[in-house]
Amino acid sequence: MSASYDLVIRGGTVVTATDTVLADVAIVGESVVAVGRGLPAGAREIDATGKLVMPGGVDAHCHIEQMTAAGLVNADNFETATVSAAFGGTTTVIPFAAQHVGLNLRQVVADYKALAARGAVVDYALHMIIADATQETVASDIPAMVEAEGIGSIKMFMTYDRLKVDDEKFLDVLLAARQSGALVCVHAENHGMISWMSRKLVEKGYVAPKYHAMSHPRLAETEAFTRLIAMSELVDQPVMIFHVSTAEGAAVIREARGRGVKVFAETCPHYLILTAEDVDLPGLEGAKRMFSPPARSASDHDALWRALALGDLQVVSSDHAPFRFDETGKLRAGPSATFKQIGNGMPGLESRLPLMFDAMVSQGRMGLQKFVELTATNPARIYNLARKGSIAVGGDADIAIWDPERSVTFSDAMVHDATGYTPYPGRTVRGWPQTVLVRGTPVIADGALAVKPGFGRYLARTGGEAARPTGRLVREVDPHRNFGATLL
Ligand code: URP
Ligand code: ZN
Ligand code: ZN
Repeated sequence: MSASYDLVIRGGTVVTATDTVLADVAIVGESVVAVGRGLPAGAREIDATGKLVMPGGVDAHCHIEQMTAAGLVNADNFETATVSAAFGGTTTVIPFAAQHVGLNLRQVVADYKALAARGAVVDYALHMIIADATQETVASDIPAMVEAEGIGSIKMFMTYDRLKVDDEKFLDVLLAARQSGALVCVHAENHGMISWMSRKLVEKGYVAPKYHAMSHPRLAETEAFTRLIAMSELVDQPVMIFHVSTAEGAAVIREARGRGVKVFAETCPHYLILTAEDVDLPGLEGAKRMFSPPARSASDHDALWRALALGDLQVVSSDHAPFRFDETGKLRAGPSATFKQIGNGMPGLESRLPLMFDAMVSQGRMGLQKFVELTATNPARIYNLARKGSIAVGGDADIAIWDPERSVTFSDAMVHDATGYTPYPGRTVRGWPQTVLVRGTPVIADGALAVKPGFGRYLARTGGEAARPTGRLVREVDPHRNFGATLL
């Protein structure tokens, strides 16, 4: 008699964002077909007794093989980055295609899709960074990108010399996104404040990595969030605020959401774990923990945890932005580089889920369902990846089987990405994924990679429900109240 299922994961504790149940999970082909007790035999079986059977993570913010703000390409290619993601229990990533100034958007899409198709071992969608909001980009390339290419989200920067988009062009892109059904994600910090602080610090010789944290004042975040939300309201275009780092930033988001503004927000493990003091290391060592916005303080950690609990922030991403700690990356400008000459960002694809599991589940802060919600289900729903982010009949069998008791101490030797270092050496976490499936296929099994580069599949999507405008127009753009002018 032939088996009912291709694979049954038997006897584990199945966790979704809403339920925790002792159950078997049956898979046929690439999909989950049944969840229940005592399911019939599968052609293959995985014994998950004593283990947690959870959706694979969805990492909605990571930089892979991308030309960065520093004019430097990330250390990772799609293969190394997604292998490291898979080892950390993540089965879907959303990295960036990057349109720098002068680049044609359609060419950028083709280039990044080709890179990803060659290397990825987990499934992936793309965000598009827009730095050059030309007439062509806004009028025809953005609509084509969403409709024909399945890129349903745009990222814009309010800072970084090479990438920042001024307010007027920013509004053009918000409107193009509104008309095309794309979500707009934003790196929101006040550029002038950061440039001014950086100039002052460097002029006076305060050039060590720890001054990077001081060069990004907290006020730069508050001001930019406030301005961004105002622009989002003017166009009635939903936005996602990336990497919230301060208590005041979270408060601005809470206030806006309380007024009914459609604003989503993300933070990252490092804003919940590291402080500015952790960047105060000998020599240039602190550069390993230089990212923007920078690490803040313990009271910000508390505020961000609260904001996650309240739903003001809905997503925890890695913001994986990998550079090697050598002359090809962080130390490109040599041993006496100022913090301004050091690329921003650090690795995080592999450590995101174990750090969050340890902080939320093992340390008893929030529990399993909230862990799944913030790291898999919410990013999948917000970014319109319908088949991802849960364990549901009919959904993709993207599953991470976790050993909740396994303790792991981070070390440089264990990382699978191409940076060669961990920002958390010596830190021990409890809970680690042991088997990871993408669409029913084991990608990580017995501690080893089990698929070839290129196994990952592209996920075309629109901006979906998250990107849908509210229909609440401010007076100046509302034809019923602005003397009949149709602007949106
Ligand atoms: O420091 C960071 N986060 N680097 C990556 C680029 C960005 O700002 O997201
Ligand atoms: Zn950013
Ligand atoms: Zn980023």
